[in-house]
This record gives sequence, C-alpha cells and structure tokens, in this order.
Amino acid sequence: MNTDKKMRLGIISALHEEQQGLVEAMQGAVTRSHGMRAYTLGQLWNIDAVCVLSRLGKVAAAMTASMLVEKFGVTHIVFTGVAGSGDKSVRVGDIVVAEALLQHDMDARPLFPRFEVPLTGLQRFATDLALSEQLALSAAAFLRDDARAVLDPLEIQEFSLQQPQVHRGLIASGDQFIGSAAHVNQLKADIPDLLAVEMEGAAVAQVCFELGVPFSVMRTVSDNANDEAAVDFMRFVHSVASRYAFGTIKRLCQHLAG
Ligand code: ADE
Repeated sequence: MNTDKKMRLGIISALHEEQQGLVEAMQGAVTRSHGMRAYTLGQLWNIDAVCVLSRLGKVAAAMTASMLVEKFGVTHIVFTGVAGSGDKSVRVGDIVVAEALLQHDMDARPLFPRFEVPLTGLQRFATDLALSEQLALSAAAFLRDDARAVLDPLEIQEFSLQQPQVHRGLIASGDQFIGSAAHVNQLKADIPDLLAVEMEGAAVAQVCFELGVPFSVMRTVSDNANDEAAVDFMRFVHSVASRYAFGTIKRLCQHLAG
C-alpha cells in the first residue's frame, strides 16, 4: 500500500452497533459535528483515524465519505458493517471483503447498460488491492485466533458460528433492504458472482474512485436476505456485529502501524 503521505484512516459504519467500541478505544479522541454527523478523530492502535456513522443508504454513505476526504483529510477509507448473503457458500457469521462493488439498483437503460454508473463507463468499482488484502488477512486472523474469546458460547451456538470463513469478491449495494428469497434470487440470477448485499458500500466506492482515495469494505453476514432477514439482522447486529468489526479493525491498525 502506498503510505508515502502520512496515513489517516477513515472508518465508516452505517449503525452504531457496527462500530461499537472503536471510538472508546481511541486515544486523544476529539469529536466534531458536521452535516448531522459526529466525526471522532484520534489514534487507534497508533494509526491516525477518524470514525463516523453514515446512517443507512447510498446518499448518506456518499455524503459521509466525501466529508471524510474533503473536510477531515483522510487518505484511506474502510467501511465496516453487516450484509445479507448473496451466495449459498456465504453463511451468517462469515466475513466478506469486497474486491469490487456495484449498485444493484442503478438502471439508466436504455441510455446506459444496466448497473453502469452513467458517464463513468463502469458497473463495478474496484477496492484497493493492498488494503483489501490486509483487511482479509486481519479478518481471517480475528476469526481464527480471537473470535471464540470475544463471543459468548451461546451466541456461537445460536448463530452457528462454529467455522466462520472469509470470502473475497463482489458486494452489491442498493437503497433497499433485501428481505425476500424471490428478490435475492433474482439479484443472484442477474449478478452471478454476487457474494453479499448491503446499502452503502458501492456509494463509498464511487466517491473514493472519483476522489482517488484507496478504500475497502468489510461486511459480516447477518442474514440470508430472505424472508427471515429482518429478524436475523436485528438479532445479529445487536449482539455479535460490533465484536467482529472491533477485532478486525484492531488487527488492521496494528499491522498498518507496525
Ligand atoms: N444489510 C444487512 N442485511 C441486509 C439485507 N438483507 N439487505 C440489505 N442490506 C443489508
């Protein structure tokens, strides 16, 4: 990763539960409010960092990513949160690190091909290879070495978290919570290499592409985007989600600082 310029890492999550613990772990934390969001600046395991909650959806995420870069001077962005599964091999409790992101609700046909972001010529926005590699290694190390210690045995049983895996590939975002088997199956038919669905990542990806900022996205799978998705999402986000994010970001910062 090119860190010639002193690194300042922006960390975005949509919801408080997806980032819980990180602000508390910051050294010298100072919070600044801007545009209805609280940006907390400080040191996370010796990395200069800015943590912020975007709220849900692509506009909210795009606004937050833009402000992180233009107003708070971040050089890199990581998004951490939860997602619905977009593939049979991706199970609740697994982590997906994005290699690319696509807006599944972008459709300007017949002017442009489906999913293409008009006037960029792109359907998919690639994440930074080195940052994604490091995020995936950090996630794998967290799952292998730390997860059992920070999760309650009852949670491990309840969510079947016995053998969580890290996947790398395509994440699709849209301004829709996907909560029916018919909907997720249709998306899968339209986007065969889909691994996970969420509501912000591709917006952050477009902003970072346009501003030339390296970024990556990590999502813990909270539900199967089917008819039980809303209930599973709420249970997961309130219990395990924050510990996955905290453990992985801690390992990422320790590596980046080392
Ligand atoms: N985030 C977590 N689960 C999701 C789902 N099923 N659809 C969209 N975003 C999600």
